[in-house]
Amino acid sequence: MGLIIVKNYFISIKNLFDLTFTIPRYNSTMSETNLKVKVWRGAEQGEFVEYLVPRNSNQTVLDVVTYIQRKLDPTLSYRFACRVGMCGSCAMTVNGVARWTCRTHVAKIVEGDALEIAPLNNLPVIKDLATDMREFFNKWKGAVGFFKGEQTRHDDFAIVKPDSEERQLANAGIECIGCAVCYASCDVVASRSNYLGPAALNRAWTLTNDVRDTQQLDRLRAVAGDAGCHTCHTHGSCTERCPKQLEPTAGISGLKKLVARAAVRGTKWGKL
Ligand code: FES
Repeated sequence: MGLIIVKNYFISIKNLFDLTFTIPRYNSTMSETNLKVKVWRGAEQGEFVEYLVPRNSNQTVLDVVTYIQRKLDPTLSYRFACRVGMCGSCAMTVNGVARWTCRTHVAKIVEGDALEIAPLNNLPVIKDLATDMREFFNKWKGAVGFFKGEQTRHDDFAIVKPDSEERQLANAGIECIGCAVCYASCDVVASRSNYLGPAALNRAWTLTNDVRDTQQLDRLRAVAGDAGCHTCHTHGSCTERCPKQLEPTAGISGLKKLVARAAVRGTKWGKL
């Protein structure tokens, strides 16, 4: 009878067919290590508290925060809604950089096993990771960042050609989700709290190119003021950090030129 050696055991060929091998398979959701996550607790006054969170290959920063809230400390406050990058509510400061947390994979940004999660900069903190967004959205209002047309529901749909210059310019900034990542990243907002900021000005520029809107001169007056588009120093942090790859600096630059033209020569809507 033949013999075979398996891990130093002598087994007859007949008995080999009765052997059972157990081979552990790699499971991508297995936790191999823990993340050391420092999370801001408190309001303007507070401190970082460290939590250990099991690591897995696909987790997002929002998953990490959710794990802490559901498994370790239910008093942790944070904000999210859609989890798919549409609502703009989940932005936080992650390892010093403002990001949308539901679309930020831990594996892509973490070095080693340390993660630090704080509320967005340039906004008052309500509690833990939740900021007060009123100031941010009030500035949209201050920049006349809302649509006002003149047609009624009895009128036919307005026709705006997709390849017209205005439509192309409006398209460039229209996907803003209002997450405030640009606002939290802006050095000018940090030093001049009344500055309208990149999101409000991007919205103003988008509406300036909406041929259906009827408030163009009011909007140009609003963004021409001391806290408006000319306050931008073109540092470019907003464009660098925007999770939707928008370019608020390009829109602000467009507003600067349009305001100058409206003041000197006038526009089709009138003169400033
Ligand atoms: Fe909606 Fe992140 S939860 S954008």
